[in-house]
Amino acid sequence: MKKMYGVILLLVLAMVVAACSSSDDDGKSADAGSKKGDGGKNQVEIFSWWTGAGEEDGLLALIDKFQEENPDLKVKNAAVAGGAGTNAKAVLATRMQGNDPPSTFQVHGGEELNKSWVAADKMEPLDDLYKENDWMDKFPKDLIDLVSNDGKIYSVPVDIHRGNVIFYNKKVFEENGIDVPKTFDEFVTAADKLKKAGVTPLAMGDKESWTATMIFENVLLAELGPDDYIKLFKGDIAFDDKRVVESAKKFGKLLDYINDDHASRNWQDSAQLVANGDAAMLNMGDWAKGYFVNDLKLKTNKDFGYFAFPGTEGNFSIITDTFGLPKGIDNPDEVKKFLTFLGSTEAQDIFNPLKGSIPARVDADESKYDEYGKDTMADFKEASLVPSLAHGSAASEGFLTKANQAVNIFVTQKDVDTLIQSLKNAAPEM
Ligand code: BGC
Repeated sequence: MKKMYGVILLLVLAMVVAACSSSDDDGKSADAGSKKGDGGKNQVEIFSWWTGAGEEDGLLALIDKFQEENPDLKVKNAAVAGGAGTNAKAVLATRMQGNDPPSTFQVHGGEELNKSWVAADKMEPLDDLYKENDWMDKFPKDLIDLVSNDGKIYSVPVDIHRGNVIFYNKKVFEENGIDVPKTFDEFVTAADKLKKAGVTPLAMGDKESWTATMIFENVLLAELGPDDYIKLFKGDIAFDDKRVVESAKKFGKLLDYINDDHASRNWQDSAQLVANGDAAMLNMGDWAKGYFVNDLKLKTNKDFGYFAFPGTEGNFSIITDTFGLPKGIDNPDEVKKFLTFLGSTEAQDIFNPLKGSIPARVDADESKYDEYGKDTMADFKEASLVPSLAHGSAASEGFLTKANQAVNIFVTQKDVDTLIQSLKNAAPEM
């Protein structure tokens, strides 16, 4: 890795404040103060949003292995459906607020971990666990930085996903004589050709608006470059900067190429359009690769190919799923057993080939990964890393919520001025 970002933004615990009802994902009443870590000594409750196709295969395989190795412990899979944590984050906020934390929960490295839960003093530091397991040189330093705050480490990364990838249907490209586009203009030329041939150029499923935010953040990355992209979310570049305005225009142009029924599809539904050849391309985190390969049984580099979002080659939009130890739970030792397992090469090499991601550890077994995995591991080492906005690493949850709303409105209205003004208005929340 050449560079790493250190995006330090203000804490906005909007979701914590906003979500203060008192029921958990099971609909049970969260009895403040009495129930911590759910299930007492022998149960480890794992909270995530990995449910359904393309999401839960890796989690279930992890749980199976952990159970096999720890038959005395019971694992409760407390996953809440909804891509990118759309619903899970609100349920989690309610539980944390009600003093009813899960034993451990999925949280993105970066702002989502540090400026929400760590800053609110809800997490135990895990420096001892890292030392006991000899992990300090087993995870990239940049990744450890991402899950650290004020010199203490707060979670264990299980994966590294990439967000600035476009997956494409190889047959559709071949049949229509399309070359992989490297620039925005090449993308537009290819998309026009596909549209003329009756193929939807770009699949989008923004039933949950984060999928559109991903496209926008990648256009921003292409326009600004990695350093200024980071500065934008630090508040050092204004949202009415002409390159941001240009990004909004280009984002609007890309929306000319999406499927008409985008608003009724989720990310898996949009991926299906590419899998079955109704659409040519999909910009999605590489959990889509896990979905293509493990659920839809497509072959990497045969049925589908991949390339960096035009204009972002050499950059890596990083999304890392991590798990930590909430304060005040009844069974920290059992949870630490799970976290120790999660940080092992064994667990990472079970999980990541199924999830589509690369392992967070540097010493995982490369032979377990397909060509996409190997390429991504190589890119990760060389690329400039930038935090994803849509996945909680670049800015606070408060800003992200407003950015998602603004993008959602833009998708139907395509009004550049309104988008820019909404982002400017939301900027203080960063
Ligand atoms: C998570 C991924 C997950 C994706 C879709 C992202 O925020 O980091 O693990 O697959 O959302 O739900």
